Amino acid sequence: MLLRVRKGWELPESAATDETVFRQRRELVKSMGLGSVLLAGGGMGLPALASTGGDPSAHLYPVKRNEKYTLDRDLTEEKYATTYNNFYEFGSHKKISAAAQELVIRPWTVKIDGAVEKELTVDIDTLLKQMPLEERLYRFRCVEAWAMAVPWSGFPFKALVDFAKPLGSAKYVQMETLADKKTMPGLKQFWYPWPYLEGLSIEEATNDLAFIATGIYGKPMPKQNGAPLRLAVPWKYGFKSIKSIVRFTFTEKRPISFWEKTQAREYGFWANVNPKVDHPRWSQATEQLLGQSGRVPTLLYNGYAEHVAHLYKDLEKSEGDRLFR
Ligand code: MTE
Repeated sequence: MLLRVRKGWELPESAATDETVFRQRRELVKSMGLGSVLLAGGGMGLPALASTGGDPSAHLYPVKRNEKYTLDRDLTEEKYATTYNNFYEFGSHKKISAAAQELVIRPWTVKIDGAVEKELTVDIDTLLKQMPLEERLYRFRCVEAWAMAVPWSGFPFKALVDFAKPLGSAKYVQMETLADKKTMPGLKQFWYPWPYLEGLSIEEATNDLAFIATGIYGKPMPKQNGAPLRLAVPWKYGFKSIKSIVRFTFTEKRPISFWEKTQAREYGFWANVNPKVDHPRWSQATEQLLGQSGRVPTLLYNGYAEHVAHLYKDLEKSEGDRLFR
């Protein structure tokens, strides 16, 4: 992220999948009762898709779509969303999807600690059984000015906050990614402040839009996209959407995230999308859609202002442009 992203996109425009095609295919697969088996195999003459890699949660997907969240653009074709990634634990470049297959996702536990009624550690499959899984179509905007539109499966962050029972003193929730030297070669880059950390205010985490994603494209989350659970906060730059979370810590103190520690002038705590506030090294006015040619305008709060702008009204004076980087 410290390097300027290449200009232009090398993938052909024909690559983007129309949402209708995606939905028809999903419905057909469902009606045949073949679920993720067929999806993973890429049947019906459609391109082969990434396999679920034996994920024991595969039977949970696809989940019912929450129709409240609609898109004004085509979904990004799966092959782009799953092969053009940022996951610095596996390398500081975009082609980490093969390396990320080393990530061990079972057993996987999630620790909930800090300012909560009772600290606890929960196994991912136990957690998945208790959470209200649904699918949401969200836009995604990376701070590097590329963007995509993806169908996440998962549950509202609010459901996890309710499960965690934070104390009244908790003002923020800090999230932490697994840091496993054996499987994550990126951790050798000692100049980065591992583990990857991110945070939200409690108001943000309990906003309807904040989502913990556990799957994508009707299947469990691929490792490169942050299996088995990652954040999806579509009104913020993509670096806030922390992957492969092992810990949620409720705290009174505002967390200092991985990127803020690395380069505070460029990557702050709030990181809300705003086309009018440039990154110190590039414009944020437009974005490149993965798999398509040409750029499109970027929208305030990435098009989600009606859901989240109110969260920042009181902060406008004190934080100013810091709300947007
Ligand atoms: N989470 C961890 N643990 N490590 C990372 O390097 N990169 C972030 C975010 N979450 C990152 C992370 C950045 S910069 C982006 S743009 C998104 O993940 C990319 O998500 P994607 O690969 O699913 O598109």
